Amino acid sequence: MKIVVIGTGYVGLVSGTCFAEMGNSVTCVDIDSEKIENLKKGILPIFEPGLETMVKRNLKTQNLCFSTSIKNVLDNSDFAFIAVGTPMGEDGSADLKYVLEVAQTIGTNMNSPLTVVNKSTVPVGTADLVKQTIEKQLKKRKLDIAFSVASNPEFLKEGDAINDFMKPDRVVVGTDDELVSKKMKNLYAPFFRSTSDRFIAMDVRSAEMTKYVANAMLATKISFINEISNICELVGADVNKVRIGIGSDKRIGYSFIYPGSGYGGSCFPKDVKALTKTAEANGYTPKLIHAVEAVNNEQKLVIVHKIINRFGENLSGLEFAIWGLSFKPGTDDMREAPSIYIINELTKKGAKVRAYDPKAINEAKEFYLKDNKNVTYYDSKYSPLKNCDALVLLTEWKEFRAPDFNEIKKELNNAIIFDGRNQYNEEYLAELGFEYYQIGKKFTKN
Ligand code: UDX
Repeated sequence: MKIVVIGTGYVGLVSGTCFAEMGNSVTCVDIDSEKIENLKKGILPIFEPGLETMVKRNLKTQNLCFSTSIKNVLDNSDFAFIAVGTPMGEDGSADLKYVLEVAQTIGTNMNSPLTVVNKSTVPVGTADLVKQTIEKQLKKRKLDIAFSVASNPEFLKEGDAINDFMKPDRVVVGTDDELVSKKMKNLYAPFFRSTSDRFIAMDVRSAEMTKYVANAMLATKISFINEISNICELVGADVNKVRIGIGSDKRIGYSFIYPGSGYGGSCFPKDVKALTKTAEANGYTPKLIHAVEAVNNEQKLVIVHKIINRFGENLSGLEFAIWGLSFKPGTDDMREAPSIYIINELTKKGAKVRAYDPKAINEAKEFYLKDNKNVTYYDSKYSPLKNCDALVLLTEWKEFRAPDFNEIKKELNNAIIFDGRNQYNEEYLAELGFEYYQIGKKFTKN
């Protein structure tokens, strides 16, 4: 198949590369010429495990090309995937500016029948808007070309995106056109050879809704366990045990009930808000989804409250070593990362912060913590510890999971760890003489 993917952000780049890997002929288009020049040389704008190798391999076979212009690549293409950003608008709803700009460009440049597919996360009704925008351009050009607009939301997890795309749990396609459904099924068939029931076809609006509901459901699970973790502390229970207790029920399951410092990233915060906006725009006031967001906002600061309880309101003169800045392990992405809120709050209260992250230091320095002059950065995990008053773990990168605790104790002023992701064994740390503060289990001195 001949495929054009418009937008070489996270979703577009992963999707385009994986389609090319399956033997399709793919052109990824972006208006950012510097990005495209780099991609042509195999230099990626993001870090995603396995992606660079796959891009380079497919550049070599020429299954994958990059271009700044949509003009000549649309002709005779089977699919045009729209994978541009839908940032949060000022009122919290998804901003469709880029999606509709792309729709207009498609309408201005297409000369042969085409299936246009929305891969960007877009509110219900966007496929209709894309269709109208393209129709308007074709009318202007006095052309009558057959095209269809389908919805095909992505369910990629950062850090595991290649795996998610190559071996999907499901592929959801929304289309009102039987032929398009068949065409999409063929396109995805190589990705789920043995279980074709993973291809789920439905109407466009239900597919658009599915994406938001999946993310809102997962965010709800996280906020639920985080709220429970706060109650556990008050009643003297241990959320780590409660989690295992409830997860063993198959109907509940173990995944996405890890308590922590709240969810971040490019999807959950934005999509939960956008779903609320969609509901409100349609005359419904969501209660539960609002609460999911409110719990998450408060949860980010739970670890700060623990630090204040231990050291007092005024943190002047204290220094904290931070392990982990990215919103989750395996990525350099810091969008909505709890670390941003936590670090800014600590320094607002007078503390100094020394931070280490395996991948996200540049993001922090250049964007997310750029204006915070009380943060310094280190290039290995033990290097920031010397004479710090405590270690604060915020992202559960593998290299933090089994550290040398004797080394940590030797370096720190006090043997104190605040763990925002419940990574360590409390009894073991107590034996070593640590004060260990975690989420959802009150610290008590032996
Ligand atoms: C998510 C969805 O999982 C994916 O299907 C969708 O396409 C995009 O959004 P992603 O944002 O990459 O993917 O991250 P994910 O692994 O889902 O984690 C999101 C956040 O939730 C992270 O901040 C993580 O730390 C937090 N989390 C996750 C918890 O706090 N507890 C959990 O049990 C699971």
